[in-house]
Amino acid sequence: MTVKTVPTTPFADQKPGTSGLRKKVPVFQEPRYVENFIQAIFDTLPERDGATLVIGGDGRFLNREVVQTALKIAAANGFGRALVGQGGLLSTPAASCVIRKHGAIGGIVLSASHNPGGPEGDFGIKFNTANGGPAPESVTAAIHARTRAIDAYRILEAEDLDLDRLGTTQLGPMAVAVIDPVADYAALMRALVDFDAIRRLFASGFRMRFDAMSAVTGPYARAILEGELGAAPGTVVNAVPKPDFGGHHPDPNPVHAAALMAEMLGPDAPDFGAASDGDGDRNMIVAPGLFVTPSDSLAILTAQAGVAPGYAAGLAGVARSMPTSRAVDRVAARLGIRAYETPTGWKFFGNLLDAGLITLCGEESAGTGSNHVREKDGLWAVLLWLNVLAATGTPAQSLVRAHWAEYGRDYYARHDYEEVETAAANAVMDGLRARLAELPGRRVAGLTVAAADEFRYVDPVDGSVTEQQGLRILFAEDARAVFRLSGTGTAGATLRVYLERYAVDDPDAPVEAMLAPVVEAARSLSDIARLTGRQEPSVIT
Ligand code: G6P
Ligand code: ZN
Repeated sequence: MTVKTVPTTPFADQKPGTSGLRKKVPVFQEPRYVENFIQAIFDTLPERDGATLVIGGDGRFLNREVVQTALKIAAANGFGRALVGQGGLLSTPAASCVIRKHGAIGGIVLSASHNPGGPEGDFGIKFNTANGGPAPESVTAAIHARTRAIDAYRILEAEDLDLDRLGTTQLGPMAVAVIDPVADYAALMRALVDFDAIRRLFASGFRMRFDAMSAVTGPYARAILEGELGAAPGTVVNAVPKPDFGGHHPDPNPVHAAALMAEMLGPDAPDFGAASDGDGDRNMIVAPGLFVTPSDSLAILTAQAGVAPGYAAGLAGVARSMPTSRAVDRVAARLGIRAYETPTGWKFFGNLLDAGLITLCGEESAGTGSNHVREKDGLWAVLLWLNVLAATGTPAQSLVRAHWAEYGRDYYARHDYEEVETAAANAVMDGLRARLAELPGRRVAGLTVAAADEFRYVDPVDGSVTEQQGLRILFAEDARAVFRLSGTGTAGATLRVYLERYAVDDPDAPVEAMLAPVVEAARSLSDIARLTGRQEPSVIT
């Protein structure tokens, strides 16, 4: 086996976004494309000699090939050991767990999260640092800079490894351990959540449906829910990860998890429904007859976490991304703990978690997590919910209603305008930005603008500043509209409009009716229809 140094030239488009480098599969199939990016990552790790690297992905199309390539480049770049999930699989939270537990220098996570897979679908490469979290902006900027200057990559000429056989083999100078992708993760869950209480819950006849969406959480959910906790066989559906996710869009929301929604809203709904996304970091929670918004889920878990052994000592603080509803802030105020507001993107929670300022955090985009890893964690959220249901003995739908009765309800919806022309999306944002100062006091759709600004974040730990993180319009009627451009799309631009309205005395009104004036005000103030040619959003969640 020899190390080859292959001359290369830069690609102009290897700028990591919110969550690593994401492109259509054919882009990653261009010769040298993967090699360049992985070498650029390694070039930013001067202390990699002899270090441990974690590699795994969500099983989507190209996963196995890129695992093999990454291993050979790692072996040629001085790493001492690589830990790879069996079959090349590791859910994103499990990768974070393995990086932390085994003292790795970092990990390469192959995923485009909830984006569709298959030969025409999306692929992605993300680098996580030694704390187990997505690389911070300083690191991704360094990787990007390196991709612009790269002139060679190093790769070991070797046969492909057998990724399906557990155990350690040598790849040139580097040891490769193929590990059970579930084991370390399951051990961590056992330490945080009361498995005995959940076992008793299932033994009492509690019925659940978990939709793994033909993506990576299938093996995790089967092993933990059905294998360890005694949920009935068949509780986990779409449990086998497929390279194209069975042609589905593995995003756990009411639109893409339609079958689960139909079952949970139907006459014979099980007691609890949940789903996770392509790489296992997102979650969706549904009670019988009632979808629980991610923002509400974060608030409810914050209020109830104390029942779980991992959180019995109390919470240091909580955090939510800015567009996430303010429901969790109300709980934090009651608990007397601090609530932080961060830009969209899980990486912003990393510093707060590392500094011990927060214990739980979450986002409207179906991410919930805690200080146990440095990624959001879909199955963990589901297990914590089960722990709460077991400990309180309260049906999920009653728990949600009791929460609204106690704290009031933050009615919430997100309107997405997908694949809009980039210029048109920018025109909406630039136009609104230019008018922010003149909005306060304006009456529109029966609401009064109380304040309008552009969110900028000053990280309380390292003082770093992140500008232009969304336009906010606050209404005097306890309502809010937020506008931002998605950082994860792979075609054109996606404009997101987040709408919310708080009500104390009316927790059971139809969401659409409650939000109608906010929707109207948001549309009229931003002039979306005229600037984009879109009368309606493409997706409402
Ligand atoms: C990924 C990140 C999340 C983030 C989401 C937002 O899932 O991991 O932290 O909330 O993207 O995506 P957007 O498309 O709204 O930028
Ligand atoms: Zn994901």
